[in-house]
Amino acid sequence: MCGIVGYVGKQKKAQEVLLEGLTNLEYRGYDSAGIAYVTNGKLVITKTEGKINNLKKIVIPCEANLGIGHTRWATNGKPNTINSHPHKQGKITIVHNGIIDNYAEIKEQLQKDGVTFKSETDTEVIAALLNQIYTKTQDINKSIVEFQKKVKGAYALGIIVDDDYNTLYAIRNESPLIVALGNDENYIASDVPAIIKYTNKYIELNNGDFAKITDSQIICYNALGKEIKKDIQEFPIESYDIDKHGYEHIMLKEIHEQPTVIKNTIGDYIDNNIDNLIAKMPDFSKYNKIIIVACGSAMHAGLVGKNMIEEFADIPVDVEIASEFRYKKVFIDNKTLVIGVSQSGETADTLKAIVKAKEKGADTLGIISKKGSSIARCVDFVLYTNSGIEVAVATTKAYSAQIALLSLIALNIANHKHNIDNKELEKILKSIKELPIQIERLLSNEACENYKNIAETLYTHNDIFFIGRGVDYALCMEGSLKLKEISYIHSEAYPAGELKHGTISLIEPGTPVVGVITDFEIADKTLSNIEETKSRGSENYLIITEELDNQYSKINKNYNTYNKVVIPNTHKLLQPLLAVVPLQMIAYETARFKGEEIDKPRNLAKSVTVE
Ligand code: AGP
Repeated sequence: MCGIVGYVGKQKKAQEVLLEGLTNLEYRGYDSAGIAYVTNGKLVITKTEGKINNLKKIVIPCEANLGIGHTRWATNGKPNTINSHPHKQGKITIVHNGIIDNYAEIKEQLQKDGVTFKSETDTEVIAALLNQIYTKTQDINKSIVEFQKKVKGAYALGIIVDDDYNTLYAIRNESPLIVALGNDENYIASDVPAIIKYTNKYIELNNGDFAKITDSQIICYNALGKEIKKDIQEFPIESYDIDKHGYEHIMLKEIHEQPTVIKNTIGDYIDNNIDNLIAKMPDFSKYNKIIIVACGSAMHAGLVGKNMIEEFADIPVDVEIASEFRYKKVFIDNKTLVIGVSQSGETADTLKAIVKAKEKGADTLGIISKKGSSIARCVDFVLYTNSGIEVAVATTKAYSAQIALLSLIALNIANHKHNIDNKELEKILKSIKELPIQIERLLSNEACENYKNIAETLYTHNDIFFIGRGVDYALCMEGSLKLKEISYIHSEAYPAGELKHGTISLIEPGTPVVGVITDFEIADKTLSNIEETKSRGSENYLIITEELDNQYSKINKNYNTYNKVVIPNTHKLLQPLLAVVPLQMIAYETARFKGEEIDKPRNLAKSVTVE
């Protein structure tokens, strides 16, 4: 996904607003960046490959009151200067977030009409299309209406037209875009961090809407070009704190926010008794099947949720990779609940999966972090996590908040189905209260020293295995992805019992194997699988609960040779919330030893709004 920012006004220097905005949007993609701005009646475009800092070095400071900026996560065309945005064709200059499905046929027709292109991008194609239409109509509003009839796909566009350097145009279809209001100045942005330091007042554009923006006026239109009235909304400024607050990386800060995030997320739904939970959530017990659709870490959260819901609520749960779900035969009816899990609420694969589920007659629920996001607006019900903005590309606190909410859904259903008695409920409520302190303990200096020591033995390796059973395997998948994402070390999560059916052939002397053992019922089996790798020379690391650590320390001679992270015991429904913290920290410290760009890993973007 890319970052878009635009400014029109006389209070600030457009170049500074654009560069500052792009810096705060860089987590959305950082393959290349560029700005277009008007100075002394001329439009200037400056763009370059690489991160915003490269762009800052080549921008020539000058007075400018209008401009648009873009930071790119490459979809069509390599991440180089030619393909970077803004793109100009004729009188139209555009920055674009999204992907145009029918750009090839549009490009072919334009080329037949004599249009030539410099870049490989779909963005330059739609700039040329809009320019062609505008050349005929000489009316930008009419041109935008015509333009949207011809273009298929997801797009958020910032546009400058050469005939009017006092006006910005913004168009939104599926990709997020907001219009923010200042005093005698206005902004556009693909996400709040770009402009939150200037204003928290904004107008939300719906799909097909476009806006005509000057320093003193914002007029919104629907896809038919009819003027529409929009409410002015406000973002809660405090939840957009993107400062590192002394942490070396934003990701580390966000890991350390987890005690508060878990307390707030759970606290939004349950306090000292179950009544609040029942009141704040629909009764999901009427469904006889649940399908969770998500991507990446959100999908891994879904796997944890599957274990909890099946265990406590007695409802079968399928977890589907959203991009697979979209194109497969699905078995859905009106007794099926489809849950979309998404931090950004803008992931295209998950959004399209939800749309398909609705078409097939399922009720849909979103577990979302971003209020008002596309998925949140598409589902029948939405349960928000209270995780605040998450800027580091590798998710941590949002993932934890997702599994917390899925555990509460399991508890909600279990309560409706009378699967848990009051004694059990009291134990759960007590465990919930202890969670923040227990997570703090896992982030103590002593605990972090242990993570560093483990990371120091891991960071030189090229292949690392994570193995576990049941919910521990789901946790292994998240631990493996975290490590891959930020340290670029290949790793693989494997069901512990399955390893011996082939993949154990990859284990050789020194191969690191991380075992996650929290599930008491199957701990012995998992430990014996770990010992199978040890007998082949692996270097073993355990993430294990206190209770099991005490038990094995006494009876298993091999056990005490393992590197260990011992985590507090809590109720089974909540145990993953503790086990994931060492996995996050080990990945973080490993990447830190490697000196990698942890907050903005190569090739990644915070949310993938293209398929
Ligand atoms: C997780 O660290 C990744 N950044 C990625 O897998 C992410 O979880 C996935 O793209 C889903 O994003 P979403 O939660 O915003 O839908």
